[in-house]
Amino acid sequence: MKIAAVSDIHVAPDGSDKELVKEIHVIASDYEPDVFVIAGDISDDSKILSETLATLRLKNCVNLYVPGNHDIWFEKETGLSSLDKYSTVIGKICQKTGFAYLPDEPEIVSDTAFVGSIGWYDYSFRSEEFDIPEECFESKEFKGSIWYDVFSVDWEFSDREATDLFNRKLQYDLSVLPDAVEKVVYVSHHLPFREMTLYKNILPWDFFSAFMGATSTGQILQEEERVVLAIAGHSHIRKIQKIEQITAMTVPIGYGRPENGEYESLAKSGIALIDLNNGVEILEFVTGDICEGMPYQSTR
Ligand SMILES: [Fe+2]
Ligand SMILES: [Fe+2]
Repeated sequence: MKIAAVSDIHVAPDGSDKELVKEIHVIASDYEPDVFVIAGDISDDSKILSETLATLRLKNCVNLYVPGNHDIWFEKETGLSSLDKYSTVIGKICQKTGFAYLPDEPEIVSDTAFVGSIGWYDYSFRSEEFDIPEECFESKEFKGSIWYDVFSVDWEFSDREATDLFNRKLQYDLSVLPDAVEKVVYVSHHLPFREMTLYKNILPWDFFSAFMGATSTGQILQEEERVVLAIAGHSHIRKIQKIEQITAMTVPIGYGRPENGEYESLAKSGIALIDLNNGVEILEFVTGDICEGMPYQSTR
């Protein structure tokens, strides 16, 4: 079974990313995967999310989506809350555009189950190098550096409650998988393993590392021996790491765009290709920050 995976396209609201999205679709199509996984952060605007998924959907392929934190940012214009978006709106968009919405239920493709959610963070990824008080993580602000979910996610859960909620859903999804399932692929936006994060020993970078994921989620995965692969986004640094029986990888594109409009190579380096036929075989994967040196999208 071949899996193509990408995340964090962060589609610009001014339409300037249309070419990039088309390139991603062309390259992913050429790989002829059995499953196409997109691990969140397309847009905080649900209309753009819908248009983008409609463009990206691959024919003759199982298309899967989990939302990212940006996708669930509440919308002032439409009145949609984070919970509206996570629990109903994005699921409906996925249904309309031909994607399975993993937070609703796992998707089983022959002998492999795809299980996933947005995941969340509980500050367990915090760096021990810096003495940052607990309340700074809760308020998402440290010395003027702000993690923007504080302004943009309006559900009532604390971060630990949200992490716990998604963990319990994951445990439930794993517990009801049929015995015929031989392999499990976990797909999330936030990271289940600390080792998937890049620490730089500088601030505010390592303050923000605390908002990357939760180690408790990875512990649940390690307890289920059928889990062979974990695909995530969120960190805009691409990494691959073996954690016991699990190959864990981040597959983001990120915010930068080539100045010359040469989207093909950015799209190509953004799509990971994995074959599950003989263990976990990585066919295509570029590590690091593939947007390094490129200017930010002009409208963000
Ligand atoms: Fe992102
Ligand atoms: Fe994100």
